Amino acid sequence: MTDPASPTDILMQEHRLIEHVLDALETAADQMERRQAVRPGFFLDAADFIAGFADGCHHRKEEGVLFGALRDSGMPVAGGPIELMLDEHEQGRRLARGMRDAARRLEGSDAARQPEGSDDDADRRSLITNARGYVALLREHIIKEDEMLFPMADELLSAERQDQVRQGFERVERDDMGAGAAEKFQALADKLGREANALRPT
Ligand SMILES: [Fe+2]
Repeated sequence: MTDPASPTDILMQEHRLIEHVLDALETAADQMERRQAVRPGFFLDAADFIAGFADGCHHRKEEGVLFGALRDSGMPVAGGPIELMLDEHEQGRRLARGMRDAARRLEGSDAARQPEGSDDDADRRSLITNARGYVALLREHIIKEDEMLFPMADELLSAERQDQVRQGFERVERDDMGAGAAEKFQALADKLGREANALRPT
């Protein structure tokens, strides 16, 4: 029997899916900056992925399960990597909210063609700034976890504690996410990737 995936392997796989959406989001923001027509709904879909998967599944596993196990295994919270990661999750939520709010205001208007200085143009700028801010923050954040926090976790957590963390992750998937959620968010990430590819200049 092969060993089950470690908790940090599971989280790193989820990082790859999140990065796929970050790439799509960056492309859409760049195209909007060039005043190409990008539907505001693209950013609302991306915000749904962020709220439902990045925060609702992935960060919930980290905040609700992994970080507690690290603390119980002796990692200090205040002033350490856990506090930094929590703070960055919160910054990410703020940026995602700003992106969603701007996209909602733009819905129904032809965002790409608004004259500079109009209200819609301010919303367009806010959308681009928040989307790019989110992409930059999360990319850096993921590197810190993959290269710093997760190797520390692999060292610190006993095999027994890793089992408990895996069970905690399963609880999040079963009780907080529900059946079919993983497939749903994978499909949403694929859809956003395809749409962003179609936006890329040829
Ligand atoms: Fe993460």
